[in-house]
Amino acid sequence: MNEYNIVVLKGDGIGPEIVDEALKVLDATGVKYGFKFNYDYRLMGGCAIDATGEPLPEETVEACRKADCVFLGAVGGPEWDTLPGNKRPEAGLLGIRGALGLYANLRPAKIFEPLKSASPIKDSIIGDGLDIMIVRELTGGIYFGERGRCEENGNEAAFDTEKYSVPEIERIARTAFQMAMKRSKKLTSVDKANVLESSRLWRETVIKVSKDYPEVELNHMYVDNCAMQLVRNPGQFDVIVTSNIFGDILSDEASMISGSIGMLASASLAGGKMGLYEPIHGSAPDIAGQQKANPLATILSAAMMLQYSFDEKEAAKAIENAVNEALKKARTPDIYEEGFEKVTTSEMGDLVVSLLK
Ligand code: IPM
Ligand code: MG
Repeated sequence: MNEYNIVVLKGDGIGPEIVDEALKVLDATGVKYGFKFNYDYRLMGGCAIDATGEPLPEETVEACRKADCVFLGAVGGPEWDTLPGNKRPEAGLLGIRGALGLYANLRPAKIFEPLKSASPIKDSIIGDGLDIMIVRELTGGIYFGERGRCEENGNEAAFDTEKYSVPEIERIARTAFQMAMKRSKKLTSVDKANVLESSRLWRETVIKVSKDYPEVELNHMYVDNCAMQLVRNPGQFDVIVTSNIFGDILSDEASMISGSIGMLASASLAGGKMGLYEPIHGSAPDIAGQQKANPLATILSAAMMLQYSFDEKEAAKAIENAVNEALKKARTPDIYEEGFEKVTTSEMGDLVVSLLK
């Protein structure tokens, strides 16, 4: 029987609650499909700061390096908001992405049929549905560029630097073209090439890489236009490739089209089997510990882990199908509509388990 070794970082806020549900679903999937998970629980984020003084203890990094992959809830919260940037919980998240070289962040935004009416976008605009794959660069750009405080004309000032090298752009572009080849062979590269030099290099490099994928229809879009087009006509997009910060923003926007940010999963990959899987939403401290959080984004991240790190495609599909079925019956508060059963975080997890085929 295959055994998979996973480092689990529950994190802060709703992190522990939603991760518990995803592990419940993973274990049930293992029983049905004949594999087993070994979980190694480690600290990262605010909980790690409280326990060790560091958002990303070295032993957590070591454990992640040895594991088959990493499963994460969410990090951050108001109690750590006043710490200096490099000591904040988010620094732990950026640190682990960097340390594991997870440059390719896949964020699928799709509408589950039963949730169509939860989308704030009109039916006439959504049409047959929505199925977009955002490929976000994750270890470069302004998130990792030089930053600091300085003085300008006697005033305090601050700066952050957006920088991309050709190899960094090439590898994420290849990830996106390969993804497009597996899907509808349409790729939109999003940049701000009318203003930013880093975006001009981005665009030139994506065009060069496109020569290796002649079957993929490539177009380019400025990020402001893309933000607008996502709500005007989301059906025009299939795969989107973009920089770290633009991908951060556009994926939150795309998630809302699908009904709730509580629905969007993600996989962060390093080009091989190693991956980090996490929902795209944050730690929602305002509802933490109340069993109100939607665990489906985390459960869907578990499905992505089965697909991308372990090639357990059938089991991954089974989770997606069970989520779809669960949405026909019950809803957590974020996606609640009249006529459905209102359930807690753990009831939603139980329901998904019971619907696994
Ligand atoms: C995300 C989050 C993170 C990011 C934060 C928590 C640092 O918003 O994964 O989208 O900006 O990458
Ligand atoms: Mg974000």
